[in-house]
Amino acid sequence: MTGFPVVRGRRLRSTAALRRLVAQTSVCASDLVLPLFVKEDLAESAQVGSMPGVWQHTVESLRKTATEAVEAGVGGLLLFGIPAVKDGAGSQADSDDGIVNVALRSLRSDLGDATVLIADLCLCEYTEHGHCGVLGSGGVVDNDATLLRYAAVAAAQAEAGAHMVAPSGMMDGQVAAIRSALDAAGRPEITVLAYAAKYASAFYGPFREAAEGAPQFGDRTGYQMDPANSDEALREVAQDLAEGADAIIVKPALPYLDIVARVSAAVDVPVAGYQVSGEFAMIEAAAERGWVDRDRAILETVTGIRRAGADIVITYWAAELARRLA
Ligand code: PBG
Repeated sequence: MTGFPVVRGRRLRSTAALRRLVAQTSVCASDLVLPLFVKEDLAESAQVGSMPGVWQHTVESLRKTATEAVEAGVGGLLLFGIPAVKDGAGSQADSDDGIVNVALRSLRSDLGDATVLIADLCLCEYTEHGHCGVLGSGGVVDNDATLLRYAAVAAAQAEAGAHMVAPSGMMDGQVAAIRSALDAAGRPEITVLAYAAKYASAFYGPFREAAEGAPQFGDRTGYQMDPANSDEALREVAQDLAEGADAIIVKPALPYLDIVARVSAAVDVPVAGYQVSGEFAMIEAAAERGWVDRDRAILETVTGIRRAGADIVITYWAAELARRLA
């Protein structure tokens, strides 16, 4: 009969099996990375108020949670440490008995090479002022002095058992400084996952409660990127690759899917999208009120980040999702 469509998009959507056959994007447990927090001098693990289901761990509870996540099939673990004592230099970040290094040693001895142990490399959880580097005159983060600290932290984290270090401070030259420190320490095999395009975002709010690393004055707009910019992300990525980054992160993910797409189209190294704490908290909070279907929203957002081009998704739901996908 004339007047009716010949092409009907609905045909390929008519059964679950057809939809599965033609699905272009998949989410696999092995592409997911689970961030974990370990806190020194904690009597027992404590749930983060703004992040239901996310915990500040003791070393013991961390080991258990990490092993369970690896058994669930996640591709990697991203570790953040919260020291009992903070100072101007963030000394606990590279101290041999600093909490993050103690935890890395335990995880490496439990898990060996069964997973990828990624150490977040920054100073904000370790400095008393909460900035991502050491301060110079006028309270501004001193870029080049901070690079010397990052170099020391990279060597310490590698020594403690990290397979990969992930510099998140957005200092200029951080990847080169870390690469040469790792090589000089005789660790050329340690990979660098660079937070290359990291924006100054409101969506890090809950993380700062989890990691206790909020800046005590000012903000991070002098080193993290302006949300208005897109070309700048490509420059940051190109610079990090030129300095030796093995893989890169775009962060946050959901409000920056255009950046995930542009960056993945431009480079041939693995790209990770970091679904950050505020993205997590928004869905958890709305779901708690019954305003969104939690499980669908989780899978839909992670699928969206993959569809935009991310090879890897860093998400606080990694272990849960891995179990669900199994
Ligand atoms: C530390 C760091 C932050 C996050 C990851 N590494 C916080 C910040 O830059 O303020 C945020 C992660 C999240 O919100 O889930 N530099």
